[in-house]
Amino acid sequence: MIIHHLQEKNSILNKFISEIRDVNVQKDSLRFRRNIERIGEVLGYELSKELSYFNVSVNTPLGNKEEELPNKDVVLCSILRAGLPLHQGLLNYFDDAESAFISAYRHHPNNDAAFEIIVEYFASPSIENKIVLLADPMLATGQSLVSVYEAIKKQGVAKEIHIVAVIGSKEGIEFIKDKFPKNTHLWIAAIDATLDSRGYIVPGLGDAGDLAFGTKL
Ligand code: URA
Repeated sequence: MIIHHLQEKNSILNKFISEIRDVNVQKDSLRFRRNIERIGEVLGYELSKELSYFNVSVNTPLGNKEEELPNKDVVLCSILRAGLPLHQGLLNYFDDAESAFISAYRHHPNNDAAFEIIVEYFASPSIENKIVLLADPMLATGQSLVSVYEAIKKQGVAKEIHIVAVIGSKEGIEFIKDKFPKNTHLWIAAIDATLDSRGYIVPGLGDAGDLAFGTKL
């Protein structure tokens, strides 16, 4: 896996990351969603540098210009519900992309810290020979990402896979490393040290789905 850790270099991205972590700023869910979206835009811009391009001739009012455009065979796959603002951010830039949605949630059968990942809803185009952007805002244990990959593999063999994450744990990244093809890229804004006993990223930001859309029962 080829890892691109964007916060290794300081940029305006730091502002968006620090706002989504900050308990005071988090009270504004509109700002939280918009910051995740902005992070999606930055990650999308960075990953666009690795894609293949084709040549076009553009007519301007004053002449012609040869331009290179990214291939349009992109499928953007996001995990419901927390992945929606990240999906929107990527879609703002990859506006020609097809979309796939999958639901994956943690089920705690014994009401303790142990959980299994349940994948239920899945709507996807074929991914055969396409570039798949797999968006998961919080790469915590990595289990949901691997379950989603197992499900999406049934839709074909992707040409390239780019995992897009906002915050990840070292443990989660270690877990997914050998579960994807070797040439898979991971585009991640921030990497945190650890997980708590419930599998939440520490310091992380809390529950991304709840912060974006409200608490659930
Ligand atoms: N999902 C979240 O929203 N936050 C975490 O820290 C882990 C999983």
